[in-house]
Amino acid sequence: MTFSIKNNVSWVGKIDWELRRFHGNELSTHRGTSYNSYLIEEEKVALIDTVWEPFTKEFLHNLSKKIDLKKIDYVIANHGEVDHSGALPLLMHCIPDTPIYCTANGVKSLKGQYHQDWNFQVVKTGDRLDLGGKELVFVEAPMLHWPDSMFCYLTGDNILFSNDAFGQHYASEIMYNDLVDQSELFAEALKYYANILTPFSPLVTKKIKEVLALNLPLDLICPSHGIIWRDNPAQIVEHYLTWADQYRENQITIIYDTMWNGTRMVAERIAQGIKAADDEVNVKLFNLAKSDKNDVISEIFKSKALVAGSPTVNNGILTAVAAVLEEVKGMKFRGKKAAAFGCFGWSGESAGILSKELQESGFEVVAEPFKVPWKPDEEKTRESLDFGRTLAGLFA
Ligand code: FEO
Repeated sequence: MTFSIKNNVSWVGKIDWELRRFHGNELSTHRGTSYNSYLIEEEKVALIDTVWEPFTKEFLHNLSKKIDLKKIDYVIANHGEVDHSGALPLLMHCIPDTPIYCTANGVKSLKGQYHQDWNFQVVKTGDRLDLGGKELVFVEAPMLHWPDSMFCYLTGDNILFSNDAFGQHYASEIMYNDLVDQSELFAEALKYYANILTPFSPLVTKKIKEVLALNLPLDLICPSHGIIWRDNPAQIVEHYLTWADQYRENQITIIYDTMWNGTRMVAERIAQGIKAADDEVNVKLFNLAKSDKNDVISEIFKSKALVAGSPTVNNGILTAVAAVLEEVKGMKFRGKKAAAFGCFGWSGESAGILSKELQESGFEVVAEPFKVPWKPDEEKTRESLDFGRTLAGLFA
């Protein structure tokens, strides 16, 4: 279960077809994932990253079939998170004195998790490690996606090992971008960016420009999850620059939850109103109690505007909506418009609460909260359609 990538560089990771939840239970991974570890066998041998802890024994078994572990001269820990460092304790038990190259924050992360005083070698941007002709060049990449993250670049073979950046949670026996289903690949790459990297978009742009300014030839991008970019690897870099720049398509996403269908009926009428005014805009509706929140975040990421609805309950909003709005707040979306609506029986705070939350989350709220008592009658149905028509103009 290892394969050669280029010259003396091999993939020695693990494809995890079963994974459906990541980061505990926070992130859905409908298509599994892979934990990519790379072995470079030049005069000196370097191992880049490992795999998640449950696959430690399988990883080390496969790796030791490929190479005598004692021949590994350097371990590179591009990132300390457990999906890449989980096999380190057992590996380091086998090769205890081998140096581990990582950032200063990488040391904090690895010591904090494994409580071991391994032979850490702290590197900074521009530091180089000679493998005997070819070199590894280190580039710190804080907040892509955690403070300890870094990339490394192999001279001669022109390979960027980008760790989480440019990855996808996408299990595939075919490990190259030109051979897999393109719609699946880009859906997963976008979902990964939208859910993991959006909050750090300004830093993504800055780091990519910094790396591009080095003018390094680029033959391959080898991320730590998903497939390897070998056909026009710059394409995913260009996508990242686009996604990081307040990305939006001609899409409006309506999210809601409903108790007795009133808020759902309003949501659907608003969608019809938008469509009546603008038949080119892509309107998508999601009942948040029945939708995968990470898929919804991807849809909001693609949208130019978000419309959020909830009935009022206990002077507040429904929990499914509250949970997604909490996620949305953390995403720090910019350049998107928004509006809120909701049915109510008695006190009627929900639409106002949603409107305030959206504003505080960085959206430009373009309309007063739209409130409907009880269930929409003929007049309120007409007003819901009109609200949608108005929004289409305000969101244009
Ligand atoms: Fe794939 Fe941040 O770990």
